[in-house]
Amino acid sequence: MHAAVLRLAGALIALACASGAFAQAWPAKPITMVMPYAPGGPGDAITRVFAAAMQKTLGQQIVVDNPAGASGTIGTAKVARSAPDGYTLLMIHVSHATNLAMYKDLPYHPVNDFEPIGSATSGPMVVVARNGFPAKDLQEFVGYLRANGRSVSLAHAGIGSASHLCGLMLMNALNVKLNEIPYKGTGPALNDVMGGQVDVLCDQTSGTVPSVKAGRIKAYAAAGKARLASLPDVPSLAEAGVQGFEINISFGLYAPKGTPKPVLEQLTAALQKAVADPEVRARLDGMGVSAVSAEQATPAALRAHLVSEIDTLGGLLVKAGVKAN
Ligand code: MLT
Repeated sequence: MHAAVLRLAGALIALACASGAFAQAWPAKPITMVMPYAPGGPGDAITRVFAAAMQKTLGQQIVVDNPAGASGTIGTAKVARSAPDGYTLLMIHVSHATNLAMYKDLPYHPVNDFEPIGSATSGPMVVVARNGFPAKDLQEFVGYLRANGRSVSLAHAGIGSASHLCGLMLMNALNVKLNEIPYKGTGPALNDVMGGQVDVLCDQTSGTVPSVKAGRIKAYAAAGKARLASLPDVPSLAEAGVQGFEINISFGLYAPKGTPKPVLEQLTAALQKAVADPEVRARLDGMGVSAVSAEQATPAALRAHLVSEIDTLGGLLVKAGVKAN
Protein backbone atom coordinates (compact mmCIF):
# COMPACT_ATOMS: atom_id res chain seq x y z
CA MET A 1 0.00 0.00 0.00
CA HIS A 2 2.72 2.44 1.05
CA ALA A 3 4.72 1.88 -2.16
CA ALA A 4 1.59 2.37 -4.29
CA VAL A 5 0.82 5.62 -2.48
CA LEU A 6 4.38 6.82 -3.06
CA ARG A 7 4.19 5.93 -6.74
CA LEU A 8 0.91 7.85 -7.03
CA ALA A 9 2.47 10.80 -5.21
CA GLY A 10 5.42 10.68 -7.57
CA ALA A 11 3.13 10.57 -10.61
CA LEU A 12 1.06 13.50 -9.37
CA ILE A 13 4.22 15.49 -8.59
CA ALA A 14 5.63 14.70 -12.03
CA LEU A 15 2.30 15.76 -13.58
CA ALA A 16 2.25 19.00 -11.62
CA CYS A 17 5.86 19.52 -12.45
CA ALA A 18 5.21 19.14 -16.15
CA SER A 19 3.08 22.25 -15.83
CA GLY A 20 6.04 23.87 -14.00
CA ALA A 21 3.74 24.72 -11.13
CA PHE A 22 5.46 22.41 -8.62
CA ALA A 23 9.00 23.40 -9.53
CA GLN A 24 8.16 27.11 -9.27
CA ALA A 25 6.67 26.56 -5.80
CA TRP A 26 9.49 24.26 -4.62
CA PRO A 27 10.90 24.59 -2.01
CA ALA A 28 7.86 25.80 -0.11
CA LYS A 29 8.85 24.27 3.29
CA PRO A 30 12.00 23.13 5.14
CA ILE A 31 14.08 20.35 3.57
CA THR A 32 15.46 17.35 5.46
CA MET A 33 19.02 16.26 4.67
CA VAL A 34 19.55 12.75 6.06
CA MET A 35 23.06 11.82 7.26
CA PRO A 36 22.69 8.14 8.20
CA TYR A 37 25.45 8.11 10.81
CA ALA A 38 25.39 9.42 14.38
CA PRO A 39 25.74 13.16 15.09
CA GLY A 40 29.25 14.40 15.83
CA GLY A 41 31.02 12.23 13.25
CA PRO A 42 32.89 13.17 10.06
CA GLY A 43 29.85 12.67 7.86
CA ASP A 44 27.72 14.82 10.14
CA ALA A 45 30.33 17.62 10.11
CA ILE A 46 30.44 17.66 6.31
CA THR A 47 26.64 17.45 5.96
CA ARG A 48 26.12 20.48 8.20
CA VAL A 49 28.52 22.57 6.09
CA PHE A 50 26.46 21.85 2.96
CA ALA A 51 23.09 22.21 4.67
CA ALA A 52 24.10 25.69 5.88
CA ALA A 53 25.36 26.76 2.44
CA MET A 54 22.53 25.28 0.35
CA GLN A 55 19.72 26.63 2.51
CA LYS A 56 20.96 30.15 1.77
CA THR A 57 20.67 29.48 -1.97
CA LEU A 58 17.34 27.62 -1.80
CA GLY A 59 15.71 30.04 0.62
CA GLN A 60 14.38 27.29 2.88
CA GLN A 61 15.83 25.80 6.07
CA ILE A 62 17.69 22.50 5.60
CA VAL A 63 17.41 20.33 8.72
CA VAL A 64 20.05 17.60 9.22
CA ASP A 65 18.56 14.31 10.44
CA ASN A 66 20.73 11.44 11.72
CA PRO A 67 18.72 8.17 11.68
CA ALA A 68 21.86 6.08 12.36
CA GLY A 69 22.52 2.35 12.58
CA ALA A 70 23.19 -0.78 10.49
CA SER A 71 26.08 0.85 8.61
CA GLY A 72 23.92 3.70 7.33
CA THR A 73 21.23 1.44 5.83
CA ILE A 74 18.49 2.57 8.26
CA GLY A 75 18.75 6.23 7.25
CA THR A 76 19.28 5.41 3.59
CA ALA A 77 16.17 3.21 3.50
CA LYS A 78 14.22 6.06 5.09
CA VAL A 79 15.15 8.33 2.17
CA ALA A 80 14.41 5.62 -0.42
CA ARG A 81 10.88 5.29 1.06
CA SER A 82 10.22 9.04 1.33
CA ALA A 83 8.04 11.00 -1.10
CA PRO A 84 10.01 11.99 -4.24
CA ASP A 85 9.20 15.68 -3.74
CA GLY A 86 12.61 17.23 -3.08
CA TYR A 87 12.01 17.62 0.66
CA THR A 88 14.07 14.60 1.75
CA LEU A 89 17.69 14.24 0.65
CA LEU A 90 20.54 11.84 1.48
CA MET A 91 24.17 12.79 2.07
CA ILE A 92 26.30 9.63 2.05
CA HIS A 93 29.66 8.22 1.06
CA VAL A 94 31.27 4.86 0.28
CA SER A 95 28.80 2.83 2.35
CA HIS A 96 26.12 3.59 -0.27
CA ALA A 97 28.22 1.32 -2.51
CA THR A 98 29.55 -1.25 -0.05
CA ASN A 99 26.18 -1.99 1.59
CA LEU A 100 24.96 -3.51 -1.69
CA ALA A 101 27.59 -6.25 -1.27
CA MET A 102 27.25 -6.46 2.52
CA TYR A 103 23.48 -6.92 2.95
CA LYS A 104 21.74 -9.69 1.02
CA ASP A 105 18.26 -8.26 1.72
CA LEU A 106 18.99 -4.51 1.45
CA PRO A 107 15.57 -2.71 1.38
CA TYR A 108 16.69 -0.46 -1.51
CA HIS A 109 19.06 -0.42 -4.47
CA PRO A 110 21.74 2.33 -4.25
CA VAL A 111 21.50 3.15 -7.96
CA ASN A 112 17.91 2.28 -8.97
CA ASP A 113 16.12 3.86 -5.98
CA PHE A 114 17.91 7.21 -5.94
CA GLU A 115 18.48 10.26 -8.13
CA PRO A 116 22.11 11.48 -7.91
CA ILE A 117 22.38 15.25 -7.38
CA GLY A 118 26.16 15.48 -7.32
CA SER A 119 29.37 14.76 -5.45
CA ALA A 120 30.27 17.17 -2.65
CA THR A 121 33.65 16.37 -1.07
CA SER A 122 36.65 14.10 -1.02
CA GLY A 123 38.97 13.59 1.91
CA PRO A 124 41.65 11.37 3.43
CA MET A 125 41.73 9.21 6.54
CA VAL A 126 44.06 9.06 9.52
CA VAL A 127 44.92 6.32 12.01
CA VAL A 128 44.45 7.55 15.58
CA ALA A 129 44.63 6.03 19.04
CA ARG A 130 43.86 6.81 22.67
CA ASN A 131 46.50 9.01 24.33
CA GLY A 132 47.71 6.20 26.59
CA PHE A 133 48.36 3.78 23.72
CA PRO A 134 51.79 2.18 24.38
CA ALA A 135 53.67 3.17 21.18
CA LYS A 136 55.82 6.28 20.88
CA ASP A 137 55.84 6.38 17.06
CA LEU A 138 54.50 4.69 13.92
CA GLN A 139 57.13 1.94 13.88
CA GLU A 140 56.31 0.99 17.47
CA PHE A 141 52.58 1.27 16.69
CA VAL A 142 52.87 -1.19 13.79
CA GLY A 143 55.02 -3.51 15.91
CA TYR A 144 52.56 -3.38 18.82
CA LEU A 145 49.56 -4.23 16.59
CA ARG A 146 51.45 -7.13 15.01
CA ALA A 147 52.54 -8.45 18.41
CA ASN A 148 49.22 -8.02 20.24
CA GLY A 149 46.53 -8.56 17.58
CA ARG A 150 43.08 -9.15 19.04
CA SER A 151 43.99 -7.63 22.41
CA VAL A 152 43.94 -4.30 20.56
CA SER A 153 40.43 -2.89 20.01
CA LEU A 154 39.59 -1.19 16.69
CA ALA A 155 36.50 1.02 16.55
CA HIS A 156 34.49 1.60 13.36
CA ALA A 157 31.05 2.76 12.19
CA GLY A 158 29.75 -0.61 11.05
CA ILE A 159 30.42 -3.13 8.30
CA GLY A 160 31.22 -1.37 5.02
CA SER A 161 31.67 2.06 6.57
CA ALA A 162 34.70 4.16 5.71
CA SER A 163 36.26 3.52 9.10
CA HIS A 164 35.61 -0.21 8.73
CA LEU A 165 37.13 -0.27 5.24
CA CYS A 166 40.19 1.57 6.49
CA GLY A 167 40.46 -0.77 9.48
CA LEU A 168 40.21 -3.78 7.17
CA MET A 169 42.91 -2.40 4.89
CA LEU A 170 45.14 -1.74 7.92
CA MET A 171 44.66 -5.29 9.24
CA ASN A 172 45.30 -6.75 5.79
CA ALA A 173 48.41 -4.60 5.30
CA LEU A 174 49.83 -5.62 8.70
CA ASN A 175 48.53 -9.20 8.41
CA VAL A 176 46.90 -8.93 11.84
CA LYS A 177 43.41 -9.37 13.29
CA LEU A 178 42.24 -6.71 15.76
CA ASN A 179 39.18 -6.79 18.01
CA GLU A 180 36.53 -4.84 16.02
CA ILE A 181 34.10 -2.66 18.00
CA PRO A 182 31.23 -1.30 15.81
CA TYR A 183 29.44 1.98 16.58
CA LYS A 184 26.55 3.92 14.97
CA GLY A 185 29.09 6.45 13.76
CA THR A 186 32.64 7.51 14.48
CA GLY A 187 31.39 10.43 16.53
CA PRO A 188 30.54 8.09 19.44
CA ALA A 189 33.56 5.92 18.56
CA LEU A 190 35.89 8.90 18.91
CA ASN A 191 34.40 9.71 22.32
CA ASP A 192 35.48 6.24 23.47
CA VAL A 193 38.96 6.68 21.97
CA MET A 194 39.25 9.97 23.86
CA GLY A 195 37.93 8.29 27.01
CA GLY A 196 40.40 5.42 26.64
CA GLN A 197 37.69 2.73 26.36
CA VAL A 198 38.84 1.72 22.87
CA ASP A 199 42.36 1.70 21.44
CA VAL A 200 42.48 2.50 17.72
CA LEU A 201 40.31 4.11 15.03
CA CYS A 202 40.91 4.89 11.38
CA ASP A 203 38.66 7.83 10.60
CA GLN A 204 38.15 10.65 8.15
CA THR A 205 40.02 13.84 8.93
CA SER A 206 36.70 15.73 9.20
CA GLY A 207 36.09 13.76 12.38
CA THR A 208 39.57 13.62 13.88
CA VAL A 209 41.78 16.61 13.02
CA PRO A 210 40.30 18.94 15.69
CA SER A 211 40.78 16.28 18.42
CA VAL A 212 44.34 15.51 17.30
CA LYS A 213 45.24 19.21 17.30
CA ALA A 214 43.63 19.61 20.74
CA GLY A 215 45.74 16.71 22.08
CA ARG A 216 42.69 14.62 23.00
CA ILE A 217 43.88 11.69 20.86
CA LYS A 218 47.12 10.92 19.04
CA ALA A 219 47.57 10.39 15.31
CA TYR A 220 50.02 7.69 14.19
CA ALA A 221 49.65 7.71 10.43
CA ALA A 222 48.02 9.24 7.41
CA ALA A 223 46.12 6.34 5.81
CA GLY A 224 47.83 6.43 2.47
CA LYS A 225 50.98 7.16 0.52
CA ALA A 226 51.32 10.86 1.35
CA ARG A 227 51.22 13.00 4.46
CA LEU A 228 48.19 15.23 5.03
CA ALA A 229 48.31 19.02 4.75
CA SER A 230 46.07 19.15 7.83
CA LEU A 231 48.52 17.00 9.87
CA PRO A 232 51.96 17.63 8.30
CA ASP A 233 53.92 16.12 11.20
CA VAL A 234 52.10 12.78 11.01
CA PRO A 235 53.92 10.24 8.81
CA SER A 236 52.12 8.23 6.17
CA LEU A 237 51.73 4.48 6.41
CA ALA A 238 53.86 4.26 3.27
CA GLU A 239 56.78 5.81 5.19
CA ALA A 240 56.58 2.88 7.60
CA GLY A 241 56.77 0.45 4.71
CA VAL A 242 53.03 -0.28 4.74
CA GLN A 243 52.43 -0.42 1.00
CA GLY A 244 49.36 -0.63 -1.21
CA PHE A 245 47.28 1.40 1.18
CA GLU A 246 45.26 4.28 -0.28
CA ILE A 247 41.78 5.34 0.78
CA ASN A 248 39.92 8.55 0.03
CA ILE A 249 36.33 9.16 1.06
CA SER A 250 33.92 11.11 -1.13
CA PHE A 251 30.45 12.27 -0.05
CA GLY A 252 27.57 12.71 -2.50
CA LEU A 253 24.02 14.06 -2.36
CA TYR A 254 20.98 12.04 -3.51
CA ALA A 255 17.19 12.35 -3.71
CA PRO A 256 14.60 9.55 -3.94
CA LYS A 257 13.90 8.06 -7.37
CA GLY A 258 11.18 9.99 -9.18
CA THR A 259 12.05 13.41 -7.79
CA PRO A 260 11.02 15.85 -10.57
CA LYS A 261 13.84 16.92 -12.88
CA PRO A 262 13.36 20.70 -12.36
CA VAL A 263 13.73 20.14 -8.59
CA LEU A 264 16.86 18.02 -9.10
CA GLU A 265 18.29 20.75 -11.33
CA GLN A 266 17.73 23.36 -8.61
CA LEU A 267 19.43 21.07 -6.08
CA THR A 268 22.43 20.46 -8.35
CA ALA A 269 22.75 24.20 -8.95
CA ALA A 270 22.68 24.88 -5.19
CA LEU A 271 25.28 22.14 -4.62
CA GLN A 272 27.53 23.56 -7.33
CA LYS A 273 27.26 27.00 -5.75
CA ALA A 274 28.21 25.47 -2.40
CA VAL A 275 31.32 23.65 -3.68
CA ALA A 276 32.50 26.93 -5.22
CA ASP A 277 31.73 28.99 -2.09
CA PRO A 278 34.97 30.27 -0.46
CA GLU A 279 33.39 29.99 3.01
CA VAL A 280 32.46 26.34 2.38
CA ARG A 281 35.93 25.58 1.03
CA ALA A 282 37.55 27.24 4.05
CA ARG A 283 35.39 25.28 6.53
CA LEU A 284 36.15 22.00 4.73
CA ASP A 285 39.84 22.88 4.54
CA GLY A 286 39.87 23.25 8.31
CA MET A 287 38.69 19.62 8.48
CA GLY A 288 41.32 18.44 6.02
CA VAL A 289 38.64 17.87 3.37
CA SER A 290 38.32 19.20 -0.21
CA ALA A 291 35.19 20.37 -1.96
CA VAL A 292 34.89 18.75 -5.39
CA SER A 293 34.98 20.69 -8.66
CA ALA A 294 31.79 21.92 -10.35
CA GLU A 295 32.24 19.14 -12.95
CA GLN A 296 32.12 16.53 -10.17
CA ALA A 297 29.13 18.15 -8.47
CA THR A 298 26.85 16.74 -11.20
CA PRO A 299 24.45 13.78 -11.35
CA ALA A 300 26.49 11.99 -14.04
CA ALA A 301 29.75 12.31 -12.11
CA LEU A 302 28.19 11.05 -8.88
CA ARG A 303 26.50 8.12 -10.60
CA ALA A 304 29.79 7.15 -12.27
CA HIS A 305 31.61 7.38 -8.91
CA LEU A 306 28.99 5.24 -7.19
CA VAL A 307 29.07 2.53 -9.89
CA SER A 308 32.86 2.48 -9.72
CA GLU A 309 32.84 2.06 -5.92
CA ILE A 310 30.24 -0.71 -6.15
CA ASP A 311 32.57 -2.56 -8.53
CA THR A 312 35.82 -2.00 -6.63
CA LEU A 313 35.10 -1.70 -2.90
CA GLY A 314 32.17 -4.08 -2.74
CA GLY A 315 34.42 -6.69 -4.33
CA LEU A 316 37.22 -5.97 -1.83
CA LEU A 317 34.89 -6.67 1.10
CA VAL A 318 33.46 -9.85 -0.38
CA LYS A 319 37.04 -11.05 -1.10
CA ALA A 320 37.89 -10.30 2.53
CA GLY A 321 35.00 -12.55 3.54
CA VAL A 322 33.05 -9.68 5.12
CA LYS A 323 29.26 -9.98 5.26
CA ALA A 324 26.81 -7.97 7.35
CA ASN A 325 23.98 -10.54 7.14
C1 MLT B 1 32.24 6.05 8.51
O1 MLT B 1 32.00 5.58 7.42
O2 MLT B 1 33.15 5.70 9.27
C2 MLT B 1 31.31 7.15 8.89
O3 MLT B 1 31.46 8.20 7.97
C3 MLT B 1 31.54 7.65 10.24
C4 MLT B 1 30.63 8.79 10.57
O4 MLT B 1 30.44 9.69 9.72
O5 MLT B 1 30.14 8.77 11.69
